[in-house]
Amino acid sequence: MSMVTEEQVREALNDVMDPEIRRPITELNMVDAVKIDGGNVEVTILLTTAGCPLKTTITEDVEATVSKLDGVESVSVVMGVMNDEQKKALREQLNGGVQERDIPFAQPDSLTRVIAVTSGKGGVGKSSMTANLAAALAKQGLKVGLVDADIYGFSIPRMMGVEHEPQVIDGMIIPPVAHDVKVMSIGMFVPDGQAVVWRGPMLHRAIQQFLADVFWGDLDVLLLDLPPGTGDVAISIPQLIPSAEILVVTTPQIAAAEVAERAGSISGQTRQRVIGVVENMSYLPQPDGTQLNLFGEGGGATVAARLSSALGYEVPLLAQVPLDVDLREGGDQGSPVVLTDSPASEVLNELAKKLGHRARGLAGRQLGVTPK
Ligand SMILES: Nc1ncnc2c1ncn2[C@@H]1O[C@H](COP(=O)(O)OP(=O)(O)OP(=O)(O)O)[C@@H](O)[C@H]1O
Ligand SMILES: [Mg+2]
Repeated sequence: MSMVTEEQVREALNDVMDPEIRRPITELNMVDAVKIDGGNVEVTILLTTAGCPLKTTITEDVEATVSKLDGVESVSVVMGVMNDEQKKALREQLNGGVQERDIPFAQPDSLTRVIAVTSGKGGVGKSSMTANLAAALAKQGLKVGLVDADIYGFSIPRMMGVEHEPQVIDGMIIPPVAHDVKVMSIGMFVPDGQAVVWRGPMLHRAIQQFLADVFWGDLDVLLLDLPPGTGDVAISIPQLIPSAEILVVTTPQIAAAEVAERAGSISGQTRQRVIGVVENMSYLPQPDGTQLNLFGEGGGATVAARLSSALGYEVPLLAQVPLDVDLREGGDQGSPVVLTDSPASEVLNELAKKLGHRARGLAGRQLGVTPK
């Protein structure tokens, strides 16, 4: 049997990705030493923090990759921690050598489509729609980020199943990845059961930090889950990312539709494009195949029609999502329903296809003039 060389081991490790930064660990200078003793290989990996939640994943990936090489009998992984200088170098590398913290999505050459999900009324399913769309778009192969912009009422960590604190490298936050989506929420920093009690300017600052100080990498789509209504955060978003588009969520109920219309129509003032309306909780599928309209009918179509006439371009009703126990359970358990089969899953995956097929480039972007 041939002897394995350090070079072969290092080359093989090019295939091991940091699960959150999503670059090869070799490129991130995380592979410290490779010791070879006959068929026994010992690899030392440098983590960004000692308590790194991804230790096990990285260890398993390194072991699996190296043990496939010819001549390898055993693999052991030793964990070390980067020193301050190494962390600084890594942060600078991730920043592309740039020091200042601009919001990448606000740059004129940004190719990331930013979609803010909004509603007038609370509890209509914004967060559920956003989490599921994010997971569905990632499933299609797009690179997706998700910001929970609902600072007081955060719910994304639970819905996506990421509640641990993110790694911070020299001031740069690495967003945890769940269901292939990079996720950021204040909820990851707040101890269980505690409330966030900030005033408007602090909210603005938090959202800005989520956009600028987080290592998002190259994203096709960034989804923002907004708090209900037209408060501080809804006003911050267009200031921070003028090209952000808006997706309005409503229920079929007329009361919800009226407030949703208001939430959508502030885009006339902020000059953001409303890409469409999603009607959630549209009906409850019955065992006999009929649909029970628990919350009435027509809310989504009404909002779409009224926004179209108020804004002067067509705002389509993009989807009608049924009530679905699996959707609620998936949200409670951190596994979005779009990853399984169910009535709501089908509709949401279709919606993601509509949004995803023009995810990149100029097609979905505000050009400063209103079409039509
Ligand atoms: N189509 C649906 N079928 C069944 N349950 C749903 C559906 N949509 C949302 N829900 C449930 O309704 C509740 C409210 O949904 P969600 O938290 O997504 O709303 P929201 O608009 O984000 O609320 P908030 O305004 O508080 O942020 C959740 O428990 C969620 O699981
Ligand atoms: Mg919500």
